[in-house]
Amino acid sequence: MKYDFTYYNPTRVHFGKDALDKLEGELNRYGKGVLLLYGKGSIKKIGLYDRVREILSRAKKNVTELSGIKPNPSYSQVLEGARLVRENNIDLILAVGGGSVIDCAKAISASAFCESDPWQKYWVDFRPLDNEVVPIGAVLTMAGTGSEMNGGSVITNESTMIKEGRVFSAELYPAFSILNPEFTYSVPKMQMVSGIFDVMSHLCEQYFSGDDENTSDYLIEAVMKLLILSARAAINNPLDYEARSNIMWCATVALNNLVGLSKTQDWQVHGIEHQLGAYTDCPHGLGLAVISIPYYRYIYKYGLKKFVRFATNVWGASATGKTDEQIALEGIKALESFSDELGIPKSLRELGAKEEMLPKIAYSVEEGGGYKKLSHEEMLNILKACY
Ligand code: NZQ
Ligand code: ZN
Repeated sequence: MKYDFTYYNPTRVHFGKDALDKLEGELNRYGKGVLLLYGKGSIKKIGLYDRVREILSRAKKNVTELSGIKPNPSYSQVLEGARLVRENNIDLILAVGGGSVIDCAKAISASAFCESDPWQKYWVDFRPLDNEVVPIGAVLTMAGTGSEMNGGSVITNESTMIKEGRVFSAELYPAFSILNPEFTYSVPKMQMVSGIFDVMSHLCEQYFSGDDENTSDYLIEAVMKLLILSARAAINNPLDYEARSNIMWCATVALNNLVGLSKTQDWQVHGIEHQLGAYTDCPHGLGLAVISIPYYRYIYKYGLKKFVRFATNVWGASATGKTDEQIALEGIKALESFSDELGIPKSLRELGAKEEMLPKIAYSVEEGGGYKKLSHEEMLNILKACY
């Protein structure tokens, strides 16, 4: 482990079929005011809204609601939530939903008592969190982002057309997260596979950088292998508890900082996808899948050793009689076939992108990069290659 680190993750996770039973005890740790945050209605369809409301009333909470949080949550919704926090003596924000709802809860909490413009302070200037915040709790309904156990808050500012991820410090990690894999049974197939590829991409972003021997890369390979097996099982039978529970925990582990410890990381695919999302509003994981393939085909030569390792250790490619380049490309081909197996669209066009958007997307992405730092022109070429 080459680089020193301090590891601390404050989120208490309750995992399993009876995890919701732990909600009342968690609520009792906080004052009366709760802001209940959720999306466009899936929690009502699956009966979870009624169960949560019942627990909130047993715990004698004064509940204020903000619903309709959209996938790829918007800054205007953040400001609306911040106003509700200020006006209703809120002691806890309870996010019930997927990554979008939880990300939005963190953003509302950071913004409610921020004395300057929160967008500028936290998502443009990346200033440290220094104002009062409201604690957050989460009931997760969709596996993918890892937001249930991290400080990430990805918000779209509709007026500037920027989708930006901000990683907050420990005060804004959910204080508790309730993870019942059964709540994910109702996630539509395209959303499920979007979440699965998001997990794969989080693992790739952390893996494809650096070449030193470290615990993190070995953990990543193990999580990738289980994710692939579980994804296949869940496609085959969406009600397979073992598969859905493994996907859910793989998702959390993939982005709760553990597997990225003591490593340089990439995050270029996410940078490009976030801007794709700002322009098209496409599901995050589908955008990642489409961009990943031409991106890795372009950069693999700069990190050949790791791409060979990916092909052999994760996908079981045989090295006999092949050059390193051939093996590396076999690994990328296997990733592409996995995306096909999941039924993920293959082009940006299918995700709603228009050709004239591509330069705007490419030139609004922050330059990052793991094995190769890309120019905006190179990003544009990658977008054209998967258009
Ligand atoms: O609006 P509702 O009714 O909740 O429906 C949602 C939404 O339409 C639906 N859904 C969720 N649970 C369901 C369900 N439908 C039926 N049954 C259920 N049990 O699924 C749709 C997508 O939900 P969303 O929360 O948007 O998905 P996801 O969890 O993939 O979150 C995506 C957002 O997270 C950001 C992404 O950029 C995107 O904005 N990310 C957050 C990260 C973080 N915090 O660390 C990292 C990620 O890389 C990512 O960028
Ligand atoms: Zn992601």
